[in-house]
Amino acid sequence: VGALAAAFIALSVFVHVASQFLFKNPNEPPLVFSWFPVNRAKYGDIFTFILLGKKTTVYVGCQGNDFILNGKAKDVCAEDIYTVLTTPVFGKDVVYDCPNSKLMEQKKFMKIALTTQAFQSYVPIIADEVSSYFKKSADFKGKSGIVNMPPKMAQITIFTASHSLQGKEIRHKFDETLADLYHDLDMGFNPVNFMLHWAPLPWNNRRDHAQRTIAKIYMDTIKERRAAGKSDAQDMMWHLMGSTYKNGTPVPDHEIAHMMIALLMAGQHSSSSTSSWIMLWLAARPDIMEDLYREQMENLGADLPPLQYEDLAKLPLNQAIIKETLRLHAPIHSIMRAVKQPMPVPGTNHVLLSAGGVTATDPTYFPDPDTWEPHRWDKDSPIAPRMVAKNEDEEEKIDYGYGLVSKGAASPYLPFGAGRHRCIGEQFANVQLQTITAMVVREFKFRNVDGSNKVIGTDYASLFSRPLEPANIHWEKRDA
Ligand code: HEM
Repeated sequence: VGALAAAFIALSVFVHVASQFLFKNPNEPPLVFSWFPVNRAKYGDIFTFILLGKKTTVYVGCQGNDFILNGKAKDVCAEDIYTVLTTPVFGKDVVYDCPNSKLMEQKKFMKIALTTQAFQSYVPIIADEVSSYFKKSADFKGKSGIVNMPPKMAQITIFTASHSLQGKEIRHKFDETLADLYHDLDMGFNPVNFMLHWAPLPWNNRRDHAQRTIAKIYMDTIKERRAAGKSDAQDMMWHLMGSTYKNGTPVPDHEIAHMMIALLMAGQHSSSSTSSWIMLWLAARPDIMEDLYREQMENLGADLPPLQYEDLAKLPLNQAIIKETLRLHAPIHSIMRAVKQPMPVPGTNHVLLSAGGVTATDPTYFPDPDTWEPHRWDKDSPIAPRMVAKNEDEEEKIDYGYGLVSKGAASPYLPFGAGRHRCIGEQFANVQLQTITAMVVREFKFRNVDGSNKVIGTDYASLFSRPLEPANIHWEKRDA
């Protein structure tokens, strides 16, 4: 079956590539042949290549970011691209398996659940999850050791997100069946499924079984909660259970269940990749890890009291770690849109691709762009970012239906996207990543196994980029 699938993919890619080259229109942007050809010096800001058998026009630079991410709904659309991948994984009637106006309402429900009060309740939950993970994990027994960090960060991310956003019942189920089921479900995000999402292949069968089983677990939990009455928990599931669409329909249980899956999957890949890069950079730069430890001792107290939401604002370097890591390693490296009607850029009648990482590493905006240096975000840093866009607070805002977002997308720094599909999880991700980082810094000293200041390369093979593995680091407990 594997060989057949490989032959099928190779054949369909070949047919598409051949036909696109043979029938090329001379008015279109340059057609480039490479797997992922972001080489601005060679091709300029706009060029076309064949991605997964489809003619794809890349438009980079601040103008390109704005053109694609702020495109009008009548011109560009995300659901036509992503639904084949996401609907079997999330389930029906949510995200891209519904009209865009319904997605905007769903995003609004999710966004307004993420209140300051909710974050205040999440930080202690996340901090406890991190401490107890290290206490229990066999890989962190003893005083020091070597560990492949990304799988550990993937577990910490899903435990902290599920516990805070979905409540303790769901978190407990991760210790039983949910971890394996989510692993099977994740296989549906394999990029070959852009073409083979329908095929009765072993990984798709496992995906479908996992989707049905996980959705049932959520729906049973919702029923149990309704039977038990209201709780004071601040999780997202409670909030959605009390939400109603503009037309007066309460959000049905199966949609809540499917949104729970979508939320965990959307956050999991991005946050776990980012937290892995953070840990790898701390191992490459033990001096920064010590700066972070000092920052906590000085600003929170030498006895390091239990971490609270309010403490995060007192730790500017801890915050800068997240910003700087996302600048170099935004996990959603490519954002695609299907073109619905001819656009004012010639040739863009197929798929558009935005790659925000190009401006995030452009020396015009970020001096010494390839160096991971969280201190660049310090006030008065000689390599401080030179943003062309105004401050977020001064920018003109627009409401696509899920709350105000900046109107322009012309910033060189957009790890959370822009426009109608912009991330609603940014604040949650920041709270989660800052809390995880602060807790790890309290517990450990890291260094690279070979003592160097380098990190491993990037794995771009899936929709979400992440560190290549194994990505081993040396850890030592502070109290050792
Ligand atoms: C959308 C990045 C974490 C939920 C997006 C987009 C980006 C992004 C770039 C826009 C995609 C597009 O335009 O097609 C990130 C990064 C994260 C992160 C870098 C962490 C470091 C999260 C978390 C959640 C979440 C934790 C949930 C709690 C969503 C949702 C969308 C979204 C619901 C909307 C999709 C749409 O409207 O099409 N995110 N995200 N994200 N993200 Fe995040």
